[in-house]
Amino acid sequence: MTKKKIVVSGIRSTGPLHVGHYFGALKSWIELQEKYECYFFVADWHALTTDFKDPSQIKTYLLDNVSDWLALGVDPKKAALFIQSSVPEHAELYLALSMITPLGWLERNPTYKDQKEALKHKDLSNLGFLGYPVLQAADIALYQGELVPVGEDQVPHLELSREIIRRFNHLYGETLVEPQPILSASPRVLGSDGRKMSNSYQNAVLLSDPEEVVTKKVMTYMTDPARKRRQDPGDPKKCPLYSLHELFTEEKTLKEVDLGCRTAKIGCVDCKKTLLQRLTPWHQSYTEKRKALNPKTVQKVLDEGQKKASAVAQKTMTEVKKALKIL
Ligand code: TRP
Ligand code: SF4
Repeated sequence: MTKKKIVVSGIRSTGPLHVGHYFGALKSWIELQEKYECYFFVADWHALTTDFKDPSQIKTYLLDNVSDWLALGVDPKKAALFIQSSVPEHAELYLALSMITPLGWLERNPTYKDQKEALKHKDLSNLGFLGYPVLQAADIALYQGELVPVGEDQVPHLELSREIIRRFNHLYGETLVEPQPILSASPRVLGSDGRKMSNSYQNAVLLSDPEEVVTKKVMTYMTDPARKRRQDPGDPKKCPLYSLHELFTEEKTLKEVDLGCRTAKIGCVDCKKTLLQRLTPWHQSYTEKRKALNPKTVQKVLDEGQKKASAVAQKTMTEVKKALKIL
């Protein structure tokens, strides 16, 4: 039997999960857990790099997010699920890797510059935020991670992680595994106002929204502004609602919607109803499973995940300390 490859991934718990999180990350986790040995965690330390002034949200959403993972189909029998900070070796390996990471690499990181610009309202001139990719390298290397699912926008971060790990091995001998990215389909999920779906824009369809709120959000979603009147043809490519259709609607109907929109054969109200026929049952199924979960069950899942993760993490740290001659 060939050993399953190791997959590592994390999500920061900075707010409630929305449809964009599902299609951007969780859906691929649910596929990956079938084939690989998976370590999935809440990156609460990473959340602190940007939210250190008001950390209350991180704790609030931690159990809530993990409960959502379970309701959506992430399976604790197939993947170790845990909280990053519950395995202290993440912080320890981060410290070790910080010794060998040139500042220039971090300062030149395009994600760092973009994020700092995008989050101008926050004070991000802290060491933790600059060191974000070092912590991410530690997260992966701790489990000898071979594959990391990433969206297009996270590729530079992972490249940096790879370089840091390579440098460690170069300096001290082969100790850590250099991970490869698995490019996950990172669909463009647009929010109700046409911008990228995000909690910070308050334009998201939240998993926790009651059914009537989901319906209302969909029915008031922005559409192609060219369709002012029912008889005006539109372009689905310019329609934020259509970005949801692309996620939920099967090929055949999608083609009909596309043509119907371009020829003004269907109106936006019909189009939205067609979407709801697909989105609502999916959301109901999630809601049912989510309601059946209690915090105790979730805590137990996290305790077990932590145990499994810790055992591997401790082993790696022993190797790292040996390599650094501090054992
Ligand atoms: N940077 C990721 C995000 O913003 C979270 C993350 C932290 C992560 N450590 C990781 C992802 C390790 C993959 C592997 O969502
Ligand atoms: Fe968007 Fe559908 Fe209206 Fe076309 S018909 S603009 S795809 S909501």
